[in-house]
Amino acid sequence: MQVTMTVNGSEVTEDVEPRMLLVHFLRDQLGLTGTHWGCDTSNCGTCVVLVDGEPVKSCTMLAAMAAGHEVRTVEGLERDGELDPVQQGFMECHGLQCGFCTPGMMMTARALLDSTPHPDEQAIREAISGQICRCTGYTTIVRSVQWAAAHEEGAAREPEPERGTGPTAAQPEASSQPRVTEHVGGAS
Ligand code: FES
Ligand code: FES
Repeated sequence: MQVTMTVNGSEVTEDVEPRMLLVHFLRDQLGLTGTHWGCDTSNCGTCVVLVDGEPVKSCTMLAAMAAGHEVRTVEGLERDGELDPVQQGFMECHGLQCGFCTPGMMMTARALLDSTPHPDEQAIREAISGQICRCTGYTTIVRSVQWAAAHEEGAAREPEPERGTGPTAAQPEASSQPRVTEHVGGAS
């Protein structure tokens, strides 16, 4: 079947298998390998992309379901050679170690800041609660998002997050309203 969607601002039309997942479409068909595929259970969240501005686990959505929609991947964060504040924040605050979870974390952060320019720590932890990082312990990820919030264009400058403060839980606190959408029935 043929699908047409907008990916990172460009319209693409491709032939796909009806059962093809969006994550595989992006990685294998479009070559956008910044979106990672980390599990077979919809748990890790490393595959998160934005669909019409909402964070979605792309392993839970068929490529065909994205037809007619706008998809944004981590490759679409940089604009005109300028890193997105979220990318800059992860760099400034050491929000990654191996980097495997990072694309998904950054896309969720982007969506959070688009809807909530000044999230508190709890809101950030809730936003990423559907995603797993096996390296950083989350504190630096939270700090990176806080840095981005303080450095968004037009954002009122806020104090730099203090180093060494805040919870150091290995897992973000569970949320009854996870930020990331799972498209039930999309996985094969
Ligand atoms: S690849 Fe793990 S949640 Fe999508
Ligand atoms: S930086 Fe390694 S899994 Fe998150």
